[in-house]
Order: sequence, then C-alpha cells, then structure tokens
Amino acid sequence: MCGIVGYIGEKKAHPILLNSLGKLEYRGYDSCGIAVAAGGIKVYKDAVRVKALQKALSPIDGTTGIGHTRWATHGEPSRVNAHPHCDCTGRIAVVHNGVINNYHTLREQLTGEGHILSSHTDTEVIPHLIEKYYEGDLEKAVELALRDIEGSYAIIVLMADEYKLVAARKDSPLIIGVGDRENFIASDVPAILDYTSRVIYLEDGDMAVVTAGKVEVKRDGAQVARKEDKILWNVEDAQKAGYEHFMLKEIHEQPKVIRDTLTEYIAAAEPAADLAVAGDMSLEGILILACGTSYHAALIGKYIIEELIKIPVRVEFASEYNYSGLAPARNKAIVITQSGETADVLRAIKRLKEGGCQVIAITNVVGSTASRIADRTVYTRAGPEISVAATKSFVAQLMALYWLALPYSRVDIRKLDDLIMELRQLPIKVQQVLDNEMAILECARQISDFENMFYIGRGINYPVALEGALKLKEISYIHAEGYAAGELKHGPFALLGSRTPVVAVVAQDNTYEAIVTGIKEIKARQSPVLALAGEGDETIGGLADSVITVPQVDPIFSPVVNAVVLQLLAYYVARQRGCPIDFPRNLAKSVTVE
Ligand code: F6R
Repeated sequence: MCGIVGYIGEKKAHPILLNSLGKLEYRGYDSCGIAVAAGGIKVYKDAVRVKALQKALSPIDGTTGIGHTRWATHGEPSRVNAHPHCDCTGRIAVVHNGVINNYHTLREQLTGEGHILSSHTDTEVIPHLIEKYYEGDLEKAVELALRDIEGSYAIIVLMADEYKLVAARKDSPLIIGVGDRENFIASDVPAILDYTSRVIYLEDGDMAVVTAGKVEVKRDGAQVARKEDKILWNVEDAQKAGYEHFMLKEIHEQPKVIRDTLTEYIAAAEPAADLAVAGDMSLEGILILACGTSYHAALIGKYIIEELIKIPVRVEFASEYNYSGLAPARNKAIVITQSGETADVLRAIKRLKEGGCQVIAITNVVGSTASRIADRTVYTRAGPEISVAATKSFVAQLMALYWLALPYSRVDIRKLDDLIMELRQLPIKVQQVLDNEMAILECARQISDFENMFYIGRGINYPVALEGALKLKEISYIHAEGYAAGELKHGPFALLGSRTPVVAVVAQDNTYEAIVTGIKEIKARQSPVLALAGEGDETIGGLADSVITVPQVDPIFSPVVNAVVLQLLAYYVARQRGCPIDFPRNLAKSVTVE
C-alpha cells in the first residue's frame, strides 16, 4: 500500500518522479504528491491521481526529489494528509509506506515540545523527529528518529541543501535503481523500469544514503555490501500494449505465462521444492497460507495435493492464522503471495519459522521480502501484474502448485504422464477460452444490471467460484458471493429469485450430477443461471439460461480454464458498468499493512 519514489541525478526530477509514481499507482491512488529540492523544498500534492497532479504542475527546476502515491490508513484522502510531509521549517520532506504504531505518543511528545503537526497521518511525526534530532548530520538524525518509531516503514528523506536522499526500510519494501550519474529509489521494480535494469534490494534494517554517483548502504551506522541484481522484466511488460486496461492485457497474457512458468520448472529438471516432510508425512500433512486471490489458489492447491499425493492439506488465511491459537505446523508450509510483500503473509512466515517450520514461498516478485525470508522460493513467471485485480498471477500460482505436487504424485505412472502432457497443453486450452471472448462479453451484458449474484462450484471448482465472485465484486462493485454448490440450500436459497443470477461452474468430475441437480433447484426459484460447461455437455444447455462452453481438460486442470472465463466475465461486466477497472475504489495491489 502506498508507493514511494526518489530521484537524484542531473535531469529534472519532477517528470521522472511523476512517471515513476504513475507506475506505482497500483499500490494506492487516493492522493499523491512530490517534493523537489529547488532552492528550498517545494511540495506539490493533492487528493488526485498522478495524471491530474501532473497536469496542474508548471515546470520545476530541481534535480533531486521524492514522491508518493497513497492508500490511506490514517486520515482520509485529502491534500493535507497526502505525502510528502514536512517538518516545522519546511526544509525536511518525507515520504513513507507503512504504519507507525506509536504515532499517537510521538505526536503528543512532539506537540509538547512545540512542533506543529497539521495532518491526521502517522507519517507526519517522522520529519518532525528528524528535525528534532538534526544537528548538522542528516543520516544521524534519521537514524535517531527511526529508533523512536515502532511499526513498519519504507521512507525516503529529502532535505534542503543536502545533496543526497536518505532511505530506510523495515517490513516495507524498498529498492534502489542504479543509473549512470543518477540513482532511483522506489517501492517496487515497475517504477524504475523506464530508466534502469540495475537494482539493489534493501534488507530490513538497512539505511541507504544515495547521491547521483553513489549508493551507500548502512546498518547500525556501519557500511554493508549489498549486491546489485539485474531486473529480468522489461519496459513493455509493464505497459498496456494497446489493450484498454492492464487487466485485459494480463488476462490475455496467460497462455504465455503458463508456458514461461512451466518452461522454467521443466528446464530445472527437478521438483520445484522438496515437499517430502520429515517423519510421517501422511499424518502431518501440509499447511498452505495466503490472502485474497492467492488464498483461492491455495484452496485449489489443497485439492491438487490431496488428489495427487494423498496427504491432508490445511489451508488458512494468513491473516487468521496469525491470530489462531494453534501451534505453527511443525514441518513444512507453503505460502502463496504474488507480491511477496503482503503484511499478513510475511508475519505468518516469521511465525512459522520461529516454530521451526520450513517455509516454501510461491511468489511472482524476485527479491520480494517473502522470497528473502522463506527457506525456499518457487517463482512464478507472470511478469509484472499491474492491474489491482490479480489474474495471470493466480493462474501462474496454479502452475507452481501442479508442479510442486506432480513429482510426489501417487497416481499410476501412465496417468501421471497423461497429466504432465495435459499440463503442457494448457496454454492452448486457455487460448481457446480467450478466443471465445465475444460469447463471454455477451453473457456479461446479460448480467451487468444486477446488484447481487451467487457463484457456485463443487470440489476443486468451489474455490474457482470464490475467485469468480471476488473478481466481480472488486472491479464491478456488484455484490457477489462464492458458494459451495451444495451449501446454497442451507440458507442462501432465501435470497434467490429473478433479480439474483447464479453463475454455476460445472465440471466433468464426480460432482457433475450433484451440481446439475443444484441448477434445477435454483431454476425452480426463478434465478437466472449462467453455466460454465465442458465441450460436448448436452445437458446443461437445456437447464441454464446461458452457457459458456469451456475446453475439455482433465478435471484437475478445470480450475485454470474456468478461472479465465470468470476473469473475462468480471472484466466485461465492469466495463459495461463503466468502472475504473485497473484501479478499483478503496483497493491497493499490495497490502503491506495488517
Ligand atoms: C484480488 C487480489 C488480492 C490479492 C491479495 C494477496 O484480485 O489481488 O486479493 O490476491 O491481496 O496479495 P498477494 O498475493 O500479493 O499476497
């Protein structure tokens, strides 16, 4: 949540800062601002999107500056609460991503000492603490200020007449982009892709002092070496490439994402990670933790692992697990996180590790915090996912789960060969779904005027129903609930009727008959039914009001094709309703606060 950037070099800072902020809007977009060193410190900020701020600005001369795009945690979105925040003198400006837990106490102390704070944010205490400790040495003042702070932060500090930027992180991501006689600081890689592919990933507890020609990383005042990495993503990966929205582009990238992700696993010629659990694996099983869409991938992972390896799998929201009384799993756990920065997931990893558990992280972001604190990382190769609604990363996570499970599979060898062959055919099957886009658009038109909907599925497609409903509600603002098909009659039937359509995910597996019966029961209550059914299914057409045909695949792979249909359905419903698809209200891509 919140994206921060910094630039120091020989070029004008403000166009670079605004361009980089635009690339980070997926992290928050309820207000934004920049501060540039130009004589003193000039601050421009408002409760607007980056493009609007850009329009309102006249050229500024400075070549050093910082910027912020916000997802409000403390204080409503407004000009006064937008970052950067300054000290009393207006000579120190700070941008911050994270949460200062003890800001109330600090604020009272600072006010008592005569500081004047004008916003409702937690962040504003930081520049004032730096002001308090500043005695001619900015780094020292930042170090002392951070000692007073409890919570999470990635910060960049700019001070008038100091020809450097000071950055620090704890539990929030921060990277340095290394350029030629210029350097960049940012929350995430897309912000710097236009300028450099050389990156330094800062560690928790690091402080970086960045000038145009030098990056110095320190810990507790002493210099430490941090290696420079090369970013594998390119500029085009983070652009719309002619699509109306990032979400549509990312949905369409999925055949390639599947191919890229599998190619890497296949080339490695070894299991993606060691799933064998010390002791009696069959008794202890595996724990999978995640949030949101990644949690839905985790639920599908449960079906995949239980079906293939025949061991019990427990899946929990990371956010719930962190508060559960249960002792951490003793052996192995998998965490799934696209960004690798979700606060609840990171906290869960730490808790698991403290309990002696080995943690395998499935993540899409190289160098992310999850990848650095887990014992083993399995990367998905989805490329940068800019749209707030996760699509391609979800499908890539499923690939990782299939590839994790297949080497330990207890199905017979012929079946295993068939499954691997079919897995490799999935890009073609997903392409077939994409080729059917116009039929999905037509169905979207039929349901886009409703305000309440159910999505139902059974077995391995129950989490697909959950994911379909989540996609719809987050981008179209229609209230949708995913339900296990068999559960609908245990209460929600009371809500059925002609104004409550039901989207039914029908798979050609042992759940088929039951879900067909369910559809008949729903139809008897006048709810319009839109069904997803496999090629050659003669029955569903006679029952449902509309049918979207999906390519035939082994039931274990049906979540992949069905999920892509539901992504497109949500996309076209939201488009029909004129919603801001890539940047839904109140949301941010990477939830770095609890
Ligand atoms: C929904 C969505 C979120 C994320 C969730 C976890 O489309 O994107 O529900 O899935 O915030 O994020 P990661 O996977 O980055 O931990």
